[in-house]
Amino acid sequence: MTGDKDRAIGFDTDSPILVMDRLCKNYELGTVELKVLRDIELTINEGDYVAIMGPSGSGKSTLLNMIGCLDRPTSGDYWLGGQNVALLDDDQLSMIRGARIGFIFQSFNLINQLNVVENIEVPMYYQGYSESESAERAIELATMVGLEERLDHRPSELSGGQQQRVAIARALANDPLIILADEPTGNLDSESGAEILKILVDLHKRGKTLIVVTHDEGIAENAGRVVEIFDGRIKRQS
Ligand SMILES: Nc1ncnc2c1ncn2[C@@H]1O[C@H](COP(=O)(O)OP(=O)(O)OP(=O)(O)O)[C@@H](O)[C@H]1O
Ligand SMILES: [Mg+2]
Repeated sequence: MTGDKDRAIGFDTDSPILVMDRLCKNYELGTVELKVLRDIELTINEGDYVAIMGPSGSGKSTLLNMIGCLDRPTSGDYWLGGQNVALLDDDQLSMIRGARIGFIFQSFNLINQLNVVENIEVPMYYQGYSESESAERAIELATMVGLEERLDHRPSELSGGQQQRVAIARALANDPLIILADEPTGNLDSESGAEILKILVDLHKRGKTLIVVTHDEGIAENAGRVVEIFDGRIKRQS
């Protein structure tokens, strides 16, 4: 169902959440053209849990950045929430990104000068929450990821797994439809990795669309779909 928030950004939730059609991405390196993504055909529906796998350098992060509209395709089409991304300007794209997409990175990407609550509040600055609303919501999200005892801590005072939980809470701040995670357990020991995996599985059960780049077979087993990339092409998908 398309709600008010989606109407405001032209997001049609009755369409597949994303469709890529013969999408290609090239990078120019001097006189050489590097074909990093080739003829990607991919449809993802709301509520899917997709693992993107493949060797180092195969194009996984580039594909995830393309999905998250952090970069534009060289050719081919990309529809996000029923909208042709090529027809949207940068402001429209950042509005959609801010409202509907949450990012989680391997290296957490938290702001060191801010505590847990403040880090989680960052994406809410641009979405019209009052100060007290955003603080209340940040505390709720920190509690949800098990950090209620760490609200005033800075990232350097947290373990890797705890930092990644802050990053997940931050990704959830604007109630995104799609969560994109690039090797979210890559910098964690197996126990912290398992905790993060459990949180991701819970999010999927609550209806979030989850797209995770991973080398972790555990994540791939949990995901309903696996997309395997090799040399910029989709080699296999389920
Ligand atoms: N901004 C860029 N300019 C030029 N080449 C790039 C750029 N970003 C990525 N590449 C190249 O594109 C290819 C794919 O990179 P990408 O980061 O998507 O791989 P990956 O599958 O995520 O690898 P890893 O598992 O090591 O993270 C690599 O050969 C890389 O050197
Ligand atoms: Mg990568």
